[in-house]
Amino acid sequence: MYVADYKTTADGREILCGRLLHSSVAKAEVKAVRLPELPDGYLYVDASDIPGDNNVNIVLDDTPVFCRGNVEYIGEPIGMIVGPDEKVVDRLLKETVVEYEELEPVLDIRKGDEYFFSYEFGHGDVEKAIAEADKVYEEEFETGYQDQAYLEPQGMMAEPEADGRMFVHGSLQCAYYVHGAVARALGTGPDGVHILQDVTGGGFGGKEDFPSNIGCQVAVAAKKAGKPVRCVFGRREDLEFTPKRHPALCKYKVAVKDGRVTAVDADVRFNAGAYSTLSAVVLQRGIIAAPGVYDIPNVHVTGKAVKTNTNPCGAYRGFGAPQTFFAMEMMMSHIAQDLGEDTIEFKEKHFVRKGDTTSTNGKYHFPVPLPAMVDEIDALCELRKKHMEYAKPQSGRYRRGMGFSAVFHGAGFTGSGERDLIKATAKLRKYPDGTVEVLASNGDIGQGVRTTFPKIVAHELNIPLDKVYYNHPDTARVPDSGPTVASRSLMIVGELLRRAAIKLRDIWVEGEEQEVEEHYKEPDFMIPFYLDRFEGDAYPTYAWATNAVEVEVDTYTGVAKILGAYGSFDVGTPVDYNIVVGQMEGGFLQGLGYASIEKMNYDNKGRIRNNSYTDYLIPTSMDVPNLKAVMHVEEYPDGPYGAKGAGELPLVGAAPAYVEAIEQALGGVAAHQLHFAPFNAEDVIAELSKEVQ
Ligand code: MOS
Repeated sequence: MYVADYKTTADGREILCGRLLHSSVAKAEVKAVRLPELPDGYLYVDASDIPGDNNVNIVLDDTPVFCRGNVEYIGEPIGMIVGPDEKVVDRLLKETVVEYEELEPVLDIRKGDEYFFSYEFGHGDVEKAIAEADKVYEEEFETGYQDQAYLEPQGMMAEPEADGRMFVHGSLQCAYYVHGAVARALGTGPDGVHILQDVTGGGFGGKEDFPSNIGCQVAVAAKKAGKPVRCVFGRREDLEFTPKRHPALCKYKVAVKDGRVTAVDADVRFNAGAYSTLSAVVLQRGIIAAPGVYDIPNVHVTGKAVKTNTNPCGAYRGFGAPQTFFAMEMMMSHIAQDLGEDTIEFKEKHFVRKGDTTSTNGKYHFPVPLPAMVDEIDALCELRKKHMEYAKPQSGRYRRGMGFSAVFHGAGFTGSGERDLIKATAKLRKYPDGTVEVLASNGDIGQGVRTTFPKIVAHELNIPLDKVYYNHPDTARVPDSGPTVASRSLMIVGELLRRAAIKLRDIWVEGEEQEVEEHYKEPDFMIPFYLDRFEGDAYPTYAWATNAVEVEVDTYTGVAKILGAYGSFDVGTPVDYNIVVGQMEGGFLQGLGYASIEKMNYDNKGRIRNNSYTDYLIPTSMDVPNLKAVMHVEEYPDGPYGAKGAGELPLVGAAPAYVEAIEQALGGVAAHQLHFAPFNAEDVIAELSKEVQ
C-alpha cells in the first residue's frame, strides 16, 4: 500500500483530504487570506494552528511549517484546506484569494548576496603556486536543476490515535527526521508521535527532507480536525514545489607548471533557494570534491549556499558532488587539450593514490583502483583508441566523440556526522519460532535493503533467508539507525547488523525470544574531522568510478545519440550482485539525463516552467540501449564483507563524460569549449551556429 492507496485508515476511519495553499508570488508580505464560505466538515489550517514550533526541524530553524506572514518563493505553503471531498477542497482552494504586498525577489544566483552557509578551506600555498606557474587557467562552469522524478509523488498522512499520540506515515526516506520534526511542530515530547514509512516509490534524495514538511502540515491539520488527514501531491505540484538538485556556479583557477597541475582555487556557489534546508551538507560534500580525484599540492576552496527567492533545493543522489566533479573534470580536459596532451593520460598522471592527502587534510587510507578501472572500460569500448581518433578534425553531418571521467563518492555521512549526530543503533529480535526480525530505521526506497539486510543476517546465523525479515520501519518499534541517505545504509547499518548477528549466533537458545543491539563506533584509523577547521577525514573510505560515453552528434538536428555508456564501479563487495548492478545502471542513466536532456528552469517571476513529464524529459533505457556497468571490487575492511557505499556513485561522473564527448564531436576546445550541463540539442545547434556567424 502506497500512502495514496488507503481507502480508510487501517482501523477503518475516514481520511480527510488536505491540499496546500501555495504562494503564487516569489516574495511578499501576505496581507490577507480571503476564504470562500467553508461547508460543514471543511476547515482551513495555518500557522496559528501550530501547537509547537513553526519550524521544520532540519539543520537551521528557518523553514516554516506554514508561512509566518511573509512568503519567500513561489510555492511556499501559506495554509491548508482540509475536508472529506477532494473535489470540494480543490474548488475551495481555487476560490481562495490571497492578498500580497509584493516585494522585489532575488532570482539570479549571480545577484544573490545573502549566504546561508559559507565555507573556506585548503592546504598548501595557492597564491605562490599561481605566481610561479607556467600558465594559469580560469573558467566558469554552470550546472542546472535536476528533479528526482521518483515514480510516486510526495505524500504523507497523519492519524490522531486514541491514546493521544499522533501517527504519521507516508512516502519517506528518514523516519526519524520526520519524527523529530513532527514532535517539535506539535510540541509533544518524542513519545507523542510515531512515524512509519509506507511503501515508497523512489526517493533519490527527494524524500530526505521534504516529508518532514508535509508530515508537520498534515499532523497540525489532523490535530485541529481531530481526524486523519492526508496530503498527496499531484505531479505538477511535485515538480514545481519540491526540492531538486542545486543549480551551481563554479569558478575555477588552476595553475600548471612543467605539465602538472600545481594548484586549484575553486569558488563554488550553490543556489539554495529560499530556505536553508539541507544546503549545508550538500555544499560540504560538493566542495570537498572540488579538486576531483587528483593529487594537487595546493588547494583553496570557498563554498557558498546562496539565498534566492526560488524553490528550496535539497538532496539528490550525488548530493553536491556532481556539480563540482563536472567543473573539475571539464577543467582538466580543457587544460590537457590546451597543452596538446591526451585528456585521459593527463588525468591518469594526476590520480591520487593510497596514502595521499585529501582536500581536507585527511588521508586516502585504502588503495585507489582508478588506473585498473580505466583499463577496464578501455577493454569494454576501446576508450583510448576512439578518444584519439575522434580528436582529429571531423566533417560531415554525423560527428563522434568519446568522453571520459573519473570520480569518487565519499561513503557515508560527511565529516563527523556518523560519530556526532547519527550515532546509529540497530537491533535483531529473534522470536521463539526461530524467525529473526531486523530492527532499524533505514527505509527501502527501491534500493533493496529489505533484501540485503536479511541476507547479511541469515548468512551470519546460517539460517534460511526466509527466516529473516525486515518490515518498513515504525519509530515506535525500531531504534534510530539513522536516515536512508549518503550511500550509508548497507555500509554502516549493514555492518552493525552483521556484528549483531554474530552476537546472536553466540547466545542463540532454541525456543526463546532474544534481542541483541549494536552501536556505531568510528573506525580507529580515521583522522577526526572538525567542521570549524574543515579538516580531517571527511569520509572513512571512497567508492570509485571511471566512465566513458560515446556519442554521435547529428549536426543538422543537434541531437546526440549515445552509442554507448560504459562504467567501471568500485563499491566494494556487492552483497547482492543484481541489486548493485541495477543501482549502477539506473544511477548512470540518471546522470546521463542530468548531462543531456533534463533542463529545468524558472521564468522571470521565479516559477518553475517544467511542471510535467512533457516539459521535463528524463531518459529511459531506450535512450541508452548500450549501457554497460562492470564492478571492480576493492574491499573495505570496516564494511560488511568489504562493502562500501553504492547508491550515489553511478550518477556522479556521467555529466563530464557526456559533455566532453559532445565537445570532442564539435571539434574540441579549439572549436568549441563547453562550460555547462545539461547540454541538449538546442545547445549543440547554438554552438554550431557560432561557426556560421
Ligand atoms: Mo541522499 S541524496 O544523501 O538522500
